[in-house]
Amino acid sequence: MDQLRVAHSDLSDAAARTANRRWWDADADDYQATHGEFLGDAELVWCPEGLREADANLLGDVAGVRALELGCGAASGARWLARAGAEVVALDLSAGMLRHARAAADRTGVTVPLVQADALALPFPDGCFDLVFTAFGAVPFVTDSAALHREVARVLRPGGRWVFAVTHPMRWIFLDDPTEHGLVAVRSYFDRTPYAEYDEAGEPSYVEQHRTVGDRVRELVAAGFVLTDLIEPEWPAGHERIWGQWSPLRGRIFPGTAIYCAHLTPS
Ligand SMILES: C[S@@+](CC[C@H](N)C(=O)[O-])C[C@H]1O[C@@H](n2cnc3c(N)ncnc32)[C@H](O)[C@@H]1O
Repeated sequence: MDQLRVAHSDLSDAAARTANRRWWDADADDYQATHGEFLGDAELVWCPEGLREADANLLGDVAGVRALELGCGAASGARWLARAGAEVVALDLSAGMLRHARAAADRTGVTVPLVQADALALPFPDGCFDLVFTAFGAVPFVTDSAALHREVARVLRPGGRWVFAVTHPMRWIFLDDPTEHGLVAVRSYFDRTPYAEYDEAGEPSYVEQHRTVGDRVRELVAAGFVLTDLIEPEWPAGHERIWGQWSPLRGRIFPGTAIYCAHLTPS
């Protein structure tokens, strides 16, 4: 990749949000064309390793549960929960991604309310959900992830659950390359400077944040959550699909995804 257009650099929350909204609006068609079939129209696929909620049962019985999907993209996960009997709302920052959510609702006949908003300012009253979840939505993209956990805690009832999948922090040590050339440690695990791509005008066009495992645990605990599990899905035998830096080669050596399962303490 062009060295001049990729960097690790500090950016304000506003700059990161603007870049990400533009990125996901522009990338929405390509993202769905590339990954839509793998993700399904009404499936909750947690990660490129292909772990499905139907098999993993990280959310428990969702029948009758009031749920919110953050950074929903085409909202396939929300439709899976709706079919399982949940009362679910799907939220994303990007109108482009939500356009695909509407198209998938038409295809499947499963309609969930769609909301365009920033996960850092959820347009919902306090304590109105039993469950908030996301597969790679919002959390890796916001500058202030501690504030995001506080915002999720605000909209959850006491005892409510928060389950989110993010890029495993091991990934940031290595080159962004799924082949053996990518198995070279190039950065410190402890360097939290965000990964950023820049357009020709020098404006940030894509920003992704790195947090260590310790950072995530500390941010969750500070927001009032109890961490109950941390899943590092192993690469399944026979799964050959490459998604960005995720590949069978890399997956055999170290995890690409971390799924945090937490709940608020009951009051
Ligand atoms: C990698 S995609 C994941 C989409 C979907 N969860 C999936 O599994 O395909 C990341 C999503 O997060 C959304 N996103 C990024 N920053 C966000 C924010 N601050 N608030 C809400 N959504 C955000 C993007 O618009 C995008 O749809």
